[in-house]
Amino acid sequence: MLKCDRMNIVRFLNEPHYQTYLKGKECSYWDKDLNWDMARNDNLNEDLKSLAVDVASMSAHVEILGMQNAAELLSQCSDFALKISLGQAVNDEARHAELFAKYATIANGYIKDFSKTQEVYDEHFNNLNTFDEVFLSHVFLENGALEQFNVFVNTFGEDSLIGQIYKGALQDESRHVQMGIQYFKRKILLEDGFSDFIYNHLNNYRNILHMNQAAIDWFSQLSGISSEQIKDRIEKRHDSFINRMIKVE
Ligand SMILES: [Fe+2]
Ligand SMILES: [Fe+2]
Repeated sequence: MLKCDRMNIVRFLNEPHYQTYLKGKECSYWDKDLNWDMARNDNLNEDLKSLAVDVASMSAHVEILGMQNAAELLSQCSDFALKISLGQAVNDEARHAELFAKYATIANGYIKDFSKTQEVYDEHFNNLNTFDEVFLSHVFLENGALEQFNVFVNTFGEDSLIGQIYKGALQDESRHVQMGIQYFKRKILLEDGFSDFIYNHLNNYRNILHMNQAAIDWFSQLSGISSEQIKDRIEKRHDSFINRMIKVE
């Protein structure tokens, strides 16, 4: 945790996390022009309307968890630039939770129950001990969410309100992933054997952090992309996540 009596040693203007934070400030209000009148009767085919309520309800649950997780990381973080970036991420996740919850409430009257999704992640995070373990799982899940949000933007289209919400959230999430990659990249350079920690952690928890077969089949049905292709994309995303941290520029 960063102690206020040590602020005199803080140097952050050249930190890569600070540059990412500045980028985030420029898109703070991307949701201000969303047309909420569309939520009652979104610009979607009939069969996609109930699906939009389902995924918005599920996303509202997941975003609440992401917000709480980012807030816990923020309170334990001792790096000033990373701490303010996590503060910004908490605000982003609050906005995501609010927008998905608002969409489901207006379109459907209430948010559908997806509390089981939350139990799986709660159990995983409760078993982790260090800041780096929690942060790595958190960022890796966000990286996986980019794949899912992409499918939602393409399925619903940018003419729909739900598609616009996923598009905005996707931009925030890719900034969060970038912030995490920068943090771990630096740790790999500074600490011997740190890349082993990354490989081992992601391998040990692969089954929890990756989409399961049922989710893959569901996404395949939704997007028209074959299950094999989705599996392949997940593996590639896994490898590219690790490679981006290890690559020396
Ligand atoms: Fe989010
Ligand atoms: Fe995020």
